[in-house]
Amino acid sequence: MKITLQDAWGLASDRRFDNLDMPILHDPVNYGAKADIGSHYGEFLSLSTDLPRSAGAFTQFLAGEKSEVSELPFEQRISAVLRYLSSPMRFEPLNSPEVHYPVSSFGGLLSCGIKFVCRHPEKNGYAEVFHFYGNYHALEKQHACVEWPDALPIGEWLVVITGQYWTVGRKYGDFSPFGVVLDSGIILAQLQYLLNLFGIGFSTGNLDLNRIGERVIPTGSFQQVLAALPISVPDEAATMLNGSLKPMEIAAYQEPKGITERFSLLNDTVDLLSASYEKHWPESPENAETESDAQLLQSLPDTDILDVIYNRTSSSDRLGFSQINKMLDGEFLQRFMKTFHKLRSRRALLPLEDKLMLNLAWINNFGPSMGLYNDQAEPIYIAQDTKQFRNILQDRLYSTNQKYNIASMTLEMYISVDTYQVSEFAGNSAFRLAHMAAGAVAHDMCLVASLFGAFARPVRMFRDTKLQQRLGLDGQLLMQVLVGFNRYNNYALTIL
Ligand SMILES: Cc1cc2nc3c(=O)[nH]c(=O)nc-3n(C[C@H](O)[C@H](O)[C@H](O)COP(=O)(O)O)c2cc1C
Repeated sequence: MKITLQDAWGLASDRRFDNLDMPILHDPVNYGAKADIGSHYGEFLSLSTDLPRSAGAFTQFLAGEKSEVSELPFEQRISAVLRYLSSPMRFEPLNSPEVHYPVSSFGGLLSCGIKFVCRHPEKNGYAEVFHFYGNYHALEKQHACVEWPDALPIGEWLVVITGQYWTVGRKYGDFSPFGVVLDSGIILAQLQYLLNLFGIGFSTGNLDLNRIGERVIPTGSFQQVLAALPISVPDEAATMLNGSLKPMEIAAYQEPKGITERFSLLNDTVDLLSASYEKHWPESPENAETESDAQLLQSLPDTDILDVIYNRTSSSDRLGFSQINKMLDGEFLQRFMKTFHKLRSRRALLPLEDKLMLNLAWINNFGPSMGLYNDQAEPIYIAQDTKQFRNILQDRLYSTNQKYNIASMTLEMYISVDTYQVSEFAGNSAFRLAHMAAGAVAHDMCLVASLFGAFARPVRMFRDTKLQQRLGLDGQLLMQVLVGFNRYNNYALTIL
């Protein structure tokens, strides 16, 4: 069977969940280990852990001001980019998941891999490929010499984001690719912010991802290249890479065998996700400073940007969800959404991101009136019966194994797409791109929530269709982001 684009849109909605084999829904307690733990032998370059802990206020970043960290030696800058992109950040032994990364991820399993492709120092038309192991904060030289006929320019590396479907396969089965592409959009948004912050230039555009995949993905591995970004590197970058590689054997997750045989839809879904994109990336929104921008920035907390990233949380709390009923003012939603748009203007919009529809439900008892809003924080309708409005939001869990407490939420974002419109525009690639763009938007919400001292939880597996019909949302929901305030008492240790 081959999955068509229409099939894929259908399978991505909860109407078809019953057709998918998803261990987490059938047997949430014993759905199986993430992957097998084993060991891996290779040549590794341990990256600097002497990294900056502050980089200036988040508001300075929003204003486009240059941070002092952009003057650090390249090795420290690239190491810091990787730390704040995909190294484990916090260990919370009493919580699930125990390990927290800088970004939210599908099941907390960080399903995307990061690789660097670098011009071979001696052989023209060849490249070296490095794979980042976050647990060791080290780069492994995965390929010492791989043919790269369309030679990489001098002073440039390619950062490659791979969707490692195997990392979530045992938990999400047939549904795995849907979450992994969302994850890759999150990573791509965060990568852009970090490159900007640490003064590393990059360009966006369409590269042949399948061809890159053929060269950088180990044969037979169930993963795929989902994005690639050329970055500018100084001369010292080449010396850094080959400076002190050391042979090491490390403990590492091993790819489970037989995932694609066990879950029959996987190969076809991933085939569809490999469709290439022919059009230009959308224009990024203007970032001209206005007077109201300056007022906004002055009104925001002066938290350091690295703390905002570190503090980002979806607020998993095994000990219980102790909500805080914040006395929010009537302007809160506007401030929140203006900050969200300002943040987005600090990165390139992803393909199809301009075609996403963003709506918000305001649920808090304080602040604006309860109801549905657009992404400019303007009301679409105010709920006449607030109890009924809350009931609609509460009544959408897919299975009794899911937990969701509406009382803790302040607002929710609904990210949806007109599947017909984007399919006409981008053909089969619409499916991958719309999901990635939705992931990027969800991540922006997570960062802004963190700035405001709130949690933000992107969620995927709810009764979306029911919710959409009852709220009157257009298009198909790709992701929701739940935002709220709670006491976060988890015992946590900082890693790295
Ligand atoms: C693509 C994606 C799908 C997610 N789906 C759900 C979900 O359906 N339900 C849920 O409670 N959390 C969901 N999450 C949130 C993750 O479980 C959470 O980010 C992860 O456990 C790590 O916790 P942290 O973000 O606090 O570090 C999702 C996150 C992503 C990125």
